Amino acid sequence: MLIEPRFRGFICTTAHPTGCAESVRRQIETVRAAGRIPGPKRVLVLGASTGYGLASRITAAFGCGAATVGVSFERASDGNRTATAGWYQTAAFEQEARAVGLGAWSVNGDAFSDEIKRQTLDLIRDHLGKVDLVVYSLASPRRTHPRTGEVLNSVLKPIGPPYASKTVDFHTGVVTDVAIEPANDEEIRQTVAVMGGEDWGFWIDALLAEGLLAPAATTIAYSYIGPAVTHPVYREGTIGRAKDDLEATALSLSKHLERIGGHAYVSVNKALVTQASSAIPVVPLYVSLLYRIMKARGTHEGCIEQTVRLFSERLYGGSLGLDEKGRIRVDDLELDPAVQAEVAAVWPSVDTDTIESLTDIAGYRAEFFRLFGFGFDDVDYGADVDPEVDIPSLATDPGAGD
Ligand code: NAI
Repeated sequence: MLIEPRFRGFICTTAHPTGCAESVRRQIETVRAAGRIPGPKRVLVLGASTGYGLASRITAAFGCGAATVGVSFERASDGNRTATAGWYQTAAFEQEARAVGLGAWSVNGDAFSDEIKRQTLDLIRDHLGKVDLVVYSLASPRRTHPRTGEVLNSVLKPIGPPYASKTVDFHTGVVTDVAIEPANDEEIRQTVAVMGGEDWGFWIDALLAEGLLAPAATTIAYSYIGPAVTHPVYREGTIGRAKDDLEATALSLSKHLERIGGHAYVSVNKALVTQASSAIPVVPLYVSLLYRIMKARGTHEGCIEQTVRLFSERLYGGSLGLDEKGRIRVDDLELDPAVQAEVAAVWPSVDTDTIESLTDIAGYRAEFFRLFGFGFDDVDYGADVDPEVDIPSLATDPGAGD
């Protein structure tokens, strides 16, 4: 079939298998060009199919030479509908990894559930023995709690006073005012339960209990701080509470891991276009402005450059550079005071008339479509393509599928 982008708002309901494979290949090239990283050899990535998790898996495999197990929640094609981008990217990753002799296994299903934890632990025991690194990079709007069965929803709302700012429809470039009512206590609780650290803790406890963490194993989860303009809806809002909880979990998990000489870290990463971040009000407008400023300065990075720097300089480069709260920081270039001063100076002038000239909204839009495999120069989008693509490890072991 011919596959074209079909989108509404921040959701694209189609994905292109060849384009998604191209995206994976380009990330692999970036990692290879950066050189060998003396890092882990057996890695578990939770949230491994898109965004920061996929970039982490690619960096571990092609930078460190690691065998990887990746867990994600994606949809296969039924022949009429395309698969999700994360499905195609996982398939492409496995093909590329296996082609150079790197072990790669995937689990597709709800990482919050006990069943998927069980399957993943079994896979690790069978294929890796133990893991040296666990990357926790899930981003989800909801979680069914495995102990209580409660369905918890995460919301993106301020806490305290209502928040008024401006936001952009990045498809049309129309900038509008947005007013968001504050969250109530119940919404805060549920957001923390979805995006906070509890599930990360469940994973690490389960791995520890079954002796599947290697001596001195490391685990890392990703957080965000960002600029003053987004603080009310991000860092000081419901999702920020969840990130506070995630960061506190790193400290408590480090204590649990002492007995194997291991550590748990949070890395604060840069704002980037991903499926998760495009859903947050105000953030796409900020990211568009940030991209223009950082590209002009030559300091722009994507997910893959961020994870390469995280692995090669911080985690395995001998210079963790922890901040006063014990966090790794690779958002340093984003939060460079000169960059943020420019953001603050330009922000008030951004409106529908000026957005194309003052920001990199065109770059944002292009990157959004590339998340789904569209817009790569060297892909022939006029060619007939089969939407049904197998993920090799799931095809050979259907029991590990969804
Ligand atoms: P993303 O939307 O690109 O990736 C989310 C991943 O989680 C996908 O692999 C998806 O399949 C998986 N997933 C979602 N629900 C699942 C479930 N129930 N079971 C199994 N897998 C599931 O997200 P992104 O942006 O890469 O976010 C990852 C982490 O990075 C999050 O903690 C986010 O807050 C953090 N982060 C993101 C930044 C950004 O600008 N995008 C900046 C700094 C941190």
